[in-house]
Amino acid sequence: MSSDPLLQPYQLKHLTLKNRLMITSHEPAYPEDGMPKDRYRAYHVERAREGVALTMTAGSASVARDSPPVFNNILAWKDEVVGWMKELTDACHEHDCAVMIQLTHLGRRTRWDKADWLPVVSSSHEREASHKAFPKKAEDWDIARIIEDYADAAERMKAAGLDGIELQAYGHLMDQFWSPLTNDLDGPYGGSLENRLRFTFDTLKAIRARVGDEFIVGVRYTGDEDLPGGITREEGLEISQRLKDSGMVDFLNVVKGHIDTDAGLTDVIPVQGMRSAPHLDFAGEIRAATKFPTFHAAKIQDVATARHAIAEGKLDMVGMTRAHMADPHIVAKIMRGEEERIRPCVGANYCLDRIYQGGMALCLHNPSTGRELEVPHEIAKADASRRVVIVGAGPAGLEAARVAAERGHEVIVHEAANDPGGQVRLTAQSKRRHEMIQLIQWRFAECERLGVSFRFNSYADADTIRAEQPDVVVIATGGLPHTEVLDAGDDLVVSSWDILSGDARPGSNVLIYDDAGDYAALQAAETLAASGAKVEVMTRDRNFSSEVMAMSLTPSLRELQARDVTFTVLWKLTGVAKDGNGLVASVGSDYGAFTRERQVDQVVVNHGTRPLDDIYFDMREDATNQGEVDYEALIAGQPQTVTRNPCGAFQLFRIGDAVAARNTHAAIYDALRLMRTV
Ligand SMILES: Cc1cc2nc3c(=O)[nH]c(=O)nc-3n(C[C@H](O)[C@H](O)[C@H](O)COP(=O)(O)O)c2cc1C
Ligand code: SF4
Repeated sequence: MSSDPLLQPYQLKHLTLKNRLMITSHEPAYPEDGMPKDRYRAYHVERAREGVALTMTAGSASVARDSPPVFNNILAWKDEVVGWMKELTDACHEHDCAVMIQLTHLGRRTRWDKADWLPVVSSSHEREASHKAFPKKAEDWDIARIIEDYADAAERMKAAGLDGIELQAYGHLMDQFWSPLTNDLDGPYGGSLENRLRFTFDTLKAIRARVGDEFIVGVRYTGDEDLPGGITREEGLEISQRLKDSGMVDFLNVVKGHIDTDAGLTDVIPVQGMRSAPHLDFAGEIRAATKFPTFHAAKIQDVATARHAIAEGKLDMVGMTRAHMADPHIVAKIMRGEEERIRPCVGANYCLDRIYQGGMALCLHNPSTGRELEVPHEIAKADASRRVVIVGAGPAGLEAARVAAERGHEVIVHEAANDPGGQVRLTAQSKRRHEMIQLIQWRFAECERLGVSFRFNSYADADTIRAEQPDVVVIATGGLPHTEVLDAGDDLVVSSWDILSGDARPGSNVLIYDDAGDYAALQAAETLAASGAKVEVMTRDRNFSSEVMAMSLTPSLRELQARDVTFTVLWKLTGVAKDGNGLVASVGSDYGAFTRERQVDQVVVNHGTRPLDDIYFDMREDATNQGEVDYEALIAGQPQTVTRNPCGAFQLFRIGDAVAARNTHAAIYDALRLMRTV
């Protein structure tokens, strides 16, 4: 048997968990009609099959009708959930993976204009900054009804054959009762700590009455709100002890912080550029104080840190949740001695941000996640080997090379620079986004393992590519910044890339006109502000940085706000002219014939990229398909068979920003779904 601390079994009551790795509850927003159907099941089964010991399904599965989901959660108040959860549980059990579910009432962390339009309920009238609903204050009949709802939902999960449940108590109704900041009830449920905990213990009693003593019940809770006037660390320890002493709880799943603001949520679930495992020691302190089964997750992205958490006795079960979104095969790779092949989670938080802003979780780094049924993680071998030539070694080109090589093709990549990476290399220059380089490093290492040939410093043109005698050509040359958007003065502006690459020296009084709303403008603003410049970021949109989502914005906004960078919405840059040693920027509006001016010494225009597509158009006529993609076949996972030129010598495809400016996920997804059938 392995001596790896992570691979040791863990005994939780009667349940043997086969190793120490778990996936904590996270709702990827995949339910259909509130039910975990085929897609949902496939997502969990993929991870169960590859070795994770426990998957905590759902995330905020709703126990009551006045807790309507804000991002498509499982409706645990419906009886039909039993059948779906049973199918999921049985399928995971086949792989010896335990299954639990997180149940909750969201309290004020939802909205009244969802589902049944019931008033939002909480233990005070205090509005939550994130969801903005003003709650009604819970009456005795609300409390009694919700306690029954919890018990009903727990009973459904037991009926579905789950191994257990956990109750969510950070930012939701349960700890809204706990926190002095959100509980101003009189009577038995308000005031003293004992009263504020009464709702939790009444709920636990009702649940135990339904599911008995054997069924596993845990609580995922904040042990320190990190907010003036909120639950303190001392109170958190006291709560931990009381949960244990109640005899009704089987494990503690420790969280630190508060989630009522985007910034607070980001500290609880840290993103790229933030410290790794920031709350691990805190969870370890609770374990030491209570000597009770302790679970925890928060940016434990790598196996070494997870192993340390177990070896040092900080935790009993380690959550690697986003890490399993990026690579569902972590445990299998550890067991095969292939740890270095694990696709690392880069903390981009595209997954979590997207449940609010994109309707479902997708992984920036792994497009198969959440698409297990139509774009499986495993790449099938091709029937015959072909010669595939790829131009460009950015994320799209590298993914195309990796997938083609996995299929057994002979793969040659031409790259003009002397390193792989493309735009990502520029992005990763900011310390805050340095983790992005792992998107490149992982793909490059896989390509090397698979025998892909790289030709760096190769300014390939159509003749270079033809000389390779390819069967398939993939143009992944990316794009170049486009700044020619003004009525006058295009020659006086620089691009955000010029700032990031150091090609343009930072000015001292700078206007950034952001017409793309992406990371490049923010990163340019950070670089400029850090150099001491006065910076204004302007957009004609109603919101700034519209393409960078809430949590991903947090670290950047912290830096920019600390340096007094200002954001101006609803104004658009129309022209730039010289004015002595400086510049005058003319500003207009989509809302009327209003004009304003800015005196600055540098103007940065961020307007996305335009495709670098010369080679593609030079080669198009010689290709059998003349560049045409059969979208129906692409979506259905079928091979591309378009023939427009029967005399053509090769198939030609274009992917990523070489087609149109999009994002890294789009570029990688283009490559994966095209090449998996080539
Ligand atoms: C898409 C997504 C949805 C999540 N939803 C929930 C949720 O509903 N309830 C919960 O307690 N945690 C939720 N989480 C937080 C995770 O359980 C976990 O605490 C967090 O991702 C930090 O762990 P990690 O760094 O290992 O990913 C969610 C995370 C993600 C990525
Ligand atoms: S999107 Fe980013 S944070 Fe989320 S799992 Fe993928 S790599 Fe990790």
